[in-house]
Amino acid sequence: MSPFLLTRTLPVDATGAALRADVLSGLTRHPKTLPPKWFYDARGSELFEEITRLPEYYPTRAEREILQARAEEIAAASGARTVIELGSGSSEKTRHLLDVLPELHSYVPVDVSESALTGAAESLLVEHPGLSVHALIADFTGGLALPGTPGPRLVVFLGGTIGNLLPEERAGFLRSVRSLLSPGDALLLGTDLVKDEETLVAAYDDAAGVTAAFNKNVLSVVNRELGADFPLDDFDHLAVWNPRDRWIEMRLRARRALNVKIRELDLVVPFEAGEELRTEVSAKFRREDVREELAAAGMRLTQWWTDSAGRFALSLATAV
Ligand code: SAH
Ligand code: AVI
Repeated sequence: MSPFLLTRTLPVDATGAALRADVLSGLTRHPKTLPPKWFYDARGSELFEEITRLPEYYPTRAEREILQARAEEIAAASGARTVIELGSGSSEKTRHLLDVLPELHSYVPVDVSESALTGAAESLLVEHPGLSVHALIADFTGGLALPGTPGPRLVVFLGGTIGNLLPEERAGFLRSVRSLLSPGDALLLGTDLVKDEETLVAAYDDAAGVTAAFNKNVLSVVNRELGADFPLDDFDHLAVWNPRDRWIEMRLRARRALNVKIRELDLVVPFEAGEELRTEVSAKFRREDVREELAAAGMRLTQWWTDSAGRFALSLATAV
């Protein structure tokens, strides 16, 4: 049996304390916002996996196509002995890469979702006997304390999750990734690309309503964790393309005027009829955007691959 270690780098109460702080600041400002990391309790992680199988949600299939086509090239360029994956989720696509890295010793998946990490590790350990899996329950936007595993390291950030960070968060995040890279290490970054509005909106407002359920799940999380009474049926899911910032915004719109009580915060949050709460941005990129943002963080874009339809890109970058 291969070694598997699950380390919680967040103190046990950190999740609760961070959720309280985010809910308090996000719901007492105008317009109201919540950070997307709170979607991912066990149910939210399941719903995300369901999203990845929807006909309208092309990013997962597009990124898998690139990984399948380019895995050998990426492996040759990186020669990684350790793969560190941020926001690893099910680690499903990453297997294409893990399968072809001849010197691979350690895999370090990092995620806030404990259920996603344990689920991923269970199947990985069966498929990769001998691989050392050191899973971290951690927020990738905080300073990461990584285990001492052998280099070279490949830091992997897939799915386009970087687009869920706001521009200033993204800049800070990329600088912290840069600080993890020693000479010989690399970053593999997945970014969704700017495309027509119809395709984008459909990907975030699917006919089966799975994305709507995923979006509303953040309200269930706040209800359960903070004793709130959000009536889920009184909110509508919205996906809106914002061409100025080049991102999709997911919002929840109150169908009627209502007051939401949040017991743990001793707070009542009023919503006007039609008021919208922004729950996620999902930024879309062009090659130049990626190159510039990497350069601003001290990294050089060395390879750029897209899927055959040009919907999604994988970038390889090294420290300057
Ligand atoms: N990489 C996978 C999963 C993407 S879903 C894929 O490409 O399919 C986004 C993942 O990032 C979820 O598993 C979620 O729990 C995790 N996540 C979101 N915000 C996070 C944060 N701030 N710190 C750590 N993990 C985070
Ligand atoms: C995880 N992340 C890249 C997804 C995205 O596409 O922005 C989350 C998601 N939100 C709605 N559908 C999927």
